[in-house]
Amino acid sequence: MAGSTFGNIFKITTWGESHGKGIGVVIDGCPAGLPLCEEDIQIYLNRRKPGQSKFTTPRKEDDAVEILSGVFEGKTTGTPISLIVFNKDQKSKDYSEIASYYRPGHADYTFDMKYGFRDYRGGGRSSGRETIGRVAAGAVAAKILKSLGISLLTYTRSIGPVSIDMENFSADEISNNALYMPDKEAAKKASAYLETCMQEQNSSGGVAECVITGMPVGIGDPVFDKLDANLAKAILSIGAVKGFEIGDGFSVSTATGLNNNDAFAFAPNGSITKETNHSGGVLGGMSDGSPIVFRAAIKPTPSIAATQKTVNKSNESIAINIKGRHDPIIVPRAVVVVESMAALTIVDLLLSNLGAKMDYLEQIYKKFPIQK
Ligand SMILES: Cc1cc2nc3c(=O)[nH]c(=O)nc-3n(C[C@H](O)[C@H](O)[C@H](O)COP(=O)(O)O)c2cc1C
Repeated sequence: MAGSTFGNIFKITTWGESHGKGIGVVIDGCPAGLPLCEEDIQIYLNRRKPGQSKFTTPRKEDDAVEILSGVFEGKTTGTPISLIVFNKDQKSKDYSEIASYYRPGHADYTFDMKYGFRDYRGGGRSSGRETIGRVAAGAVAAKILKSLGISLLTYTRSIGPVSIDMENFSADEISNNALYMPDKEAAKKASAYLETCMQEQNSSGGVAECVITGMPVGIGDPVFDKLDANLAKAILSIGAVKGFEIGDGFSVSTATGLNNNDAFAFAPNGSITKETNHSGGVLGGMSDGSPIVFRAAIKPTPSIAATQKTVNKSNESIAINIKGRHDPIIVPRAVVVVESMAALTIVDLLLSNLGAKMDYLEQIYKKFPIQK
């Protein structure tokens, strides 16, 4: 199966199935000398771990990561970094029925048509557990970004009809509630809405938002490798993500040039700045120095206990009630996945930018000792 590798220079390959022995990632192209330990990665993985609240699947997994290679005496060596998480709480029996039919909203039908065969246990490779590899690699990418003064803040912007109020925004609140919302009041309302969904054996969608600050100007390449195009691919590659917006996003279609353009101005220190940020920090595919702001629309969890219509492999129309353990909302656990994919995208583009002009090459290579 192709398509499990992401990135050009900082390249990751995720592997493993939901109910296989384990799941993980190989990172190729990580610069040598980055201080790295399992705890750095575990902090990220803990943000997507199941069983943390009544709104996440009760599957009990430690998701404890082990570094198998690429780190020596606490620092990356420049060789491939292999990271593994062993699966522990597989209950494959819960899934034996789904071998014979196609769950609406899942990849069962398309997998069978494409490959003629699928690992149906827990969704196999299409499971939300595949994102463990993305998040483990994202933690490494975020550590590189932190050392360069670039940081990412990601949170739940809305759940169903409940949106955060920007006037109540508090970054400290994000990790205080199970929904990762930066607005305490909105989190309460969203919890009540989710309770209703659960009573009705139904699920909800929502929106995750990510803000990247400290970006230097000019990251991203102007034609096919635009920063926003790369981000869109990264985010839309996450299961259940159905929409991507940067800056004012879809609302630009009803704006006018006068209110959509961001006026340039001089900052007190004389540098060029923008008075507004409708562009979301990207102009012509390159970062413009303002915060990068983007959103991901995430669909309602497809596995619901309510009765649904489908067909089986014996060509019968049937009614099903999906068993097994599923989140009534995917967004809170996807927040760190969105952040990880953004970190991976930015690191890859920063590395490729090193070849953008002679200045950079001279700064690096003129320092090299040369034998005459
Ligand atoms: C972090 C994460 C957790 C997920 N958990 C579940 C889940 O518990 N139950 C479920 O039915 N789908 C879950 N999904 C979504 C499915 O994997 C996804 O919708 C399905 O593979 C079909 O792919 P598509 O929605 O991209 O078309 C999760 C996705 C992510 C990113």
